Amino acid sequence: MKITVVGPGALGSLFGALLGRAGHRIQLLDHQRPRAALLAARGLLLEENGRKERVSILATTEPAAVAGSDLIFLCVKSGAVGESLAAIASFLSPSSLLIACQNGIGHLEPLRRLVPADRRSVAVTAQGATLIAPGHVRHGGSGPTRLGVIEPPVPAVLTQAAGVLTAAGIPALVEGDISQAIWRKLLANAAINALTALHDCPNGHLAADSRLRKELSQAVAEGAAVAKALKVEVGSDPVADVLAICRATAENISSMLQDVRRRRRTEIDAINGAIVAEARRLGIPVPVNERLLQAVKAREGDFG
Ligand code: PAF
Repeated sequence: MKITVVGPGALGSLFGALLGRAGHRIQLLDHQRPRAALLAARGLLLEENGRKERVSILATTEPAAVAGSDLIFLCVKSGAVGESLAAIASFLSPSSLLIACQNGIGHLEPLRRLVPADRRSVAVTAQGATLIAPGHVRHGGSGPTRLGVIEPPVPAVLTQAAGVLTAAGIPALVEGDISQAIWRKLLANAAINALTALHDCPNGHLAADSRLRKELSQAVAEGAAVAKALKVEVGSDPVADVLAICRATAENISSMLQDVRRRRRTEIDAINGAIVAEARRLGIPVPVNERLLQAVKAREGDFG
């Protein structure tokens, strides 16, 4: 398959490396010219189970290069989705399927607005990826990647995409109702990402520290109340589910903490910000999420 990965961050580099290693023709689309040149020259360095392996890929800064791709994995940060889609949307072929892989729910609106219904889909992934340096990614654990569409029907190519990912070592399945997976991950991100970013700790610390565990539970319970009002099923014990993720990814540095350590803008608006916005619309109090949103924004303000 001809596959384009848009955005060589942690997840984009991981998908690019694993799919490239599986024998697919991978091109990475990057908006930064020097980094694209580096990736084109050196490929991707994949670190997995203590072993390092170099995978050759093509890299480009030309949005027109997406034309003719069978699958396009959109792996840019949530806040960059509108701009990226505006650049590539006119080059999507009728047979192309774009798979948006962001955290949160902020990407759904630009996806609906800029990509035709039969060419858009979303992925919710539990793959652990840490970007060590440009082009150097560490694979830190493998959970399921759930694929789905915002509005039915599910195109046949999405089932093919799940097969392609699974064969490359990214276990994937197609979900009939992806909103459940989106919201379950949103609750995990709202608690884990914001708290780890503010306390500069790995995920496991949130389950081990009683004060942080309480705050995590409150943030998740608030988000679950919003999901319930939206009639999205998030399971019978979402707090236990999020604590289980903390323990399963105990050593992981959350994507938001990685951003904060690099002094980069985070996805807080698409995560806690989205929960707060929905809660306001529905008249549901979410004080812990409001506090986390403001605190992370204040931290971003220090980056200048
Ligand atoms: O964004 C992340 O880092 C991940 O979604 C998660 C599940 C919080 C694990 O670190």
